[in-house]
Amino acid sequence: MLGLDTNPDCAPVLLKSSTELPEYLVGGTLYRTGPGGVGDSADKMKIKHFFDGFTQNHRFHIKDTSTVEYACRSSCNALKQMYKEGSPDMARVTSFGPRDPCQTYFQKFMSVVKMPLSESNVKTDDGLPADIVNVGVTIKRDITGLVARTDSNVFQILDPVTLEPLTKYNYSKFSGQSLDGQLTASHVEFSADGKTEYNYNLKLGKMPEYVVFSKTDGHITELARFQAPGTYLHSFWTTDKYVVLALWQAEFWGGGIGVPLNKNVLQGITQEWNSERETVFYVIDKDPSKSRDFKTYKGPAFFAFHTINAFEQDGEPVLDVCTYDNNRVLFDFMLDKFKNDMAGVQKNKAFVTRFKLHDGLAQTVFCYDTPLANLELPTINPRFQNKEHRYVYGVNMQDKGQFLFEAIIRMDLKTGETLYFIEEDETPGEALFVPDPESDEDDELAGVLLSVSLNLKTGKSALLVLDPATMTVTARVQMDSKVNYGFHGSWAM
Ligand SMILES: [Fe+2]
Repeated sequence: MLGLDTNPDCAPVLLKSSTELPEYLVGGTLYRTGPGGVGDSADKMKIKHFFDGFTQNHRFHIKDTSTVEYACRSSCNALKQMYKEGSPDMARVTSFGPRDPCQTYFQKFMSVVKMPLSESNVKTDDGLPADIVNVGVTIKRDITGLVARTDSNVFQILDPVTLEPLTKYNYSKFSGQSLDGQLTASHVEFSADGKTEYNYNLKLGKMPEYVVFSKTDGHITELARFQAPGTYLHSFWTTDKYVVLALWQAEFWGGGIGVPLNKNVLQGITQEWNSERETVFYVIDKDPSKSRDFKTYKGPAFFAFHTINAFEQDGEPVLDVCTYDNNRVLFDFMLDKFKNDMAGVQKNKAFVTRFKLHDGLAQTVFCYDTPLANLELPTINPRFQNKEHRYVYGVNMQDKGQFLFEAIIRMDLKTGETLYFIEEDETPGEALFVPDPESDEDDELAGVLLSVSLNLKTGKSALLVLDPATMTVTARVQMDSKVNYGFHGSWAM
C-alpha cells in the first residue's frame, strides 16, 4: 500500500522550489520521522501495527531561497534484520502492536531460558548497535543533539547531517536515579530556554508507579512519585509553573502484565471502554520544594494521543488536547485495517477540546466536535507556547476513505471556524509552524506552515510551504521520491 511500502534510503539530492522560499528559512532544517516501511513479504516475522513500521528519518535542509537539500536514512537496520530472520532475539523486543508469528514469553520459553529477559523493555545493553531499536515518533534537535524518541524508555541520538544513528540511551543512565520504568512520553516538554526537559517515567507492575521529573545538564530532579493505574500516555502538558499529566482511558490491565507476556504494548491495554470513568489530572509544581504536594482534578472520560498547548488563567491550568470519545483508534491502526478498511479507520476522530482545572474538577470549556473539524498531529505557532493561542493546525480526514489524512485544517478557537488546505490525491503530514522572526510577536499568523505531502497518483512527495493566514500553498518543493505516512517532525535553525 502506497505510504506504507518499503521506501529506499536516499543520499543527499538537491530539490528546487517552485517559487522563492522566505529568506528566514534559509539555513534551517526540517526533520521528519516515521515508518519507512512495514517489512517485506519474505520476512519471517511480520509487523501487524502501523506504529511498528521501521523508522526512517528525513532531512530537508534549506540551502537558499530556491534550493532544498533532501536525504533520508533508516535508523533500525539491525532490528529489520531480526525481523527478516525471525531471530529468537525478537523474544526480547517489545513492539507497540502484536507481530506475526507472535513470540510470547510462553511460546519462546526455551529461548528465554537461554537468554534471560530483562524485566523492562529498556534496551541499552552495551555492545548492541544503536540501530537495534525502533525509535521514531518524534525527532527534535535539543541541547543533547538530534534526538529521536518513542513511548518506551529508550532514545536514539542521530547525526544531524547524515542521520546516522550514533547511540542510544535511557533516563536510568542519569544521576543514579531509578528511572528504569518501561514507559515515557514521546512528546517531552521543555522550559522556555530549552535547557530543561520534563517527562514522566512509568514502571508497570503490581502497583504501577509514575515518576515525574526534570532533566537539566544531565541532572535529574524528581518532582513527584505516585502510584496510580498504569496508562498509555503519549504526551502531557507543561505551563510556566506546572507539569500536568492526565490519566485518560488507556489503562494497562493487571498492572501491565500483558505487556511482557505478549511482548507488545497494545495487548496490555484494556480495550473495554467505560464512559462513566473519570479522567484524573495530576498537577505538579515545577518547583521541587512544592512539587510533592501535587493536586488532582477529575474530568470526563476521554482518550488522547496529543496535547496541544497549556497556559495559566487566574493561576489555574487551561489545557488544550485532541480528544477521542474512546480508545478504539489504538486497535484500529492495525495494518490489515489500514489496507482493507480505511473508511473504518477514519471513524476514529479527534477533536480540539479545552479543559480548565478549577476546584478539583477539569471543566470542559469547549469541544469543537463537528465531524469535519477533526484534527490530529496538532501544532501551534511556537511563540504561543504556554500562552493563550487562537489557532491550532493539524491533519484532517474528509471521510473520502482513500487514505488516512486528506487535508490540513486550521481551527480558530475563538470562533470555531475552520479553514482547510485540500488538494486532490494529496495526503499531507503534520504541519509545522515556523514564525517569521521579523514579525510582531503578537501576530499569530505571521510565518509559514511546512508539511510533507504524498501524492497518491504520482507516488511522490513534496515539501509544501503554506500561508497560515489563507491555508494556501505559497511554494512547493517537488521530490522525485516519497515520504511515507509519518508521525512528527521539527524545525531547527
Ligand atoms: Fe505523537
